[in-house]
Amino acid sequence: MRVMVVGSGGREHALAWKIKQSPLVRDLFCMPGNAGTAAIAENIPGDVMDIERVVDIAKSNRIDLAVVGPEAPLAIGLVNALEAKGIAAFGPNKDAAAIESSKLFSKMLMAAAGIRTAKFAAFDVFDAAKSHIDGKELPVIVKADGLAAGKGVFVCRSREDVDEALQKTLLQGEFGEAGKRIIVEEFLPGQEASMVAITDGEVMLPLPGSEDHKQLLDGDKGPNTGGMGAFSPTEVLHRSMRDRVMDEIMYPAIRGLKEQGIIYRGALYAGLMILGGDPYVLEFNCRFGDPETQATLPRLKGDIVPILMAAAKGSLSDMELEVENNHCVCVTLASDGYPGSYRKGLEISGLDDCGKLDDVVLFHAGTKSIGGKILTSGGRVLGVTALGSDKRKAIELCYKAVDLVRFDGRHFRRDIGLRRGDK
Ligand code: AMP
Ligand code: GLY
Repeated sequence: MRVMVVGSGGREHALAWKIKQSPLVRDLFCMPGNAGTAAIAENIPGDVMDIERVVDIAKSNRIDLAVVGPEAPLAIGLVNALEAKGIAAFGPNKDAAAIESSKLFSKMLMAAAGIRTAKFAAFDVFDAAKSHIDGKELPVIVKADGLAAGKGVFVCRSREDVDEALQKTLLQGEFGEAGKRIIVEEFLPGQEASMVAITDGEVMLPLPGSEDHKQLLDGDKGPNTGGMGAFSPTEVLHRSMRDRVMDEIMYPAIRGLKEQGIIYRGALYAGLMILGGDPYVLEFNCRFGDPETQATLPRLKGDIVPILMAAAKGSLSDMELEVENNHCVCVTLASDGYPGSYRKGLEISGLDDCGKLDDVVLFHAGTKSIGGKILTSGGRVLGVTALGSDKRKAIELCYKAVDLVRFDGRHFRRDIGLRRGDK
């Protein structure tokens, strides 16, 4: 088989790494990929938002299965375009991807399907949003309705925070079209966790539960980022809670979509808050999590390719996802300044030594290979990932590996995997 992974982040490297292990796969391509995928696949340059080009590349390389990582090309219909040319594609089509690309759509779906979530109101006018929030106790949450790369959510703990959130979204247009409408929702205090399931629209195969650490700094301080690390499993999603999440959230979501005539195929991600013993949805994503994927795929036994193919084709019913009884921790190494502006092109050292450690996998994200050197090229640079028979061992090994990898201004959290207090 000839498989192509679309995207260039740590999640895509992790997908490519797992796919590469399949005996069914003869040729693996990544578009555009990073320095990590270049070592295991053929990278093809290009903009993943240029749908025509992605489809042309897939056609000319006779791709049997395209696996689309990021939300942005899913939201503009990449899977529709691939399927229209007869190329099997893993990921939801444009209508189904609205579960992430419009928070309002997602909230309406949850309301119709009876899925627990924070109470909300939607606004596109500053004054109306402000007077609504003026009458509320803080904290409140303000979210850009559209896609904002994980950065469009404001946890407003003071009236100044509220002003800043409303100004950035509705007045200053910091998120462009995505922030022209906002969702204001109640703050849910609780424990966060991430649940992802692979689905063909009917059957769902849950991946192991995980948690990510979104904030930049130790102790969950500082601004939200795309994700500073993740671990799996999490005590929060114990067996019976996972079963409840499947019954009360994941299946109702795809059935609710089906009632609207939308068949959801691909990975469905629920960002959860467990509160008073019940699971609430903070957000749905139309894809695998990043960095949760880096901390979950190394735990899967067996071949993922038949599962991805079956999800794309609507025939998952005979499939199983088996998980090792181990723990996995992924620590993001980021560029100094991220999630704001940062320098690029800095040389990374220690990758070879790190790669020699048993039970350690290095997933690249913002990296580039130039003249035999590996250079930084993004905000999140690497996801150093380690397995262990218990969480403590996985954490220790992971930080041992982190110490080996260096570049100027390297920033990472030192508390990934540690149990977080209730919010
Ligand atoms: P989201 O992208 O919607 O998952 O939001 C990003 C982060 O903001 C989440 O991981 C939570 O930490 C926080 N958050 C979002 N919505 C809420 C909420 N209703 N209550 C408390 N925290 C929230
Ligand atoms: N780690 C959060 C996300 O993938 O959206």
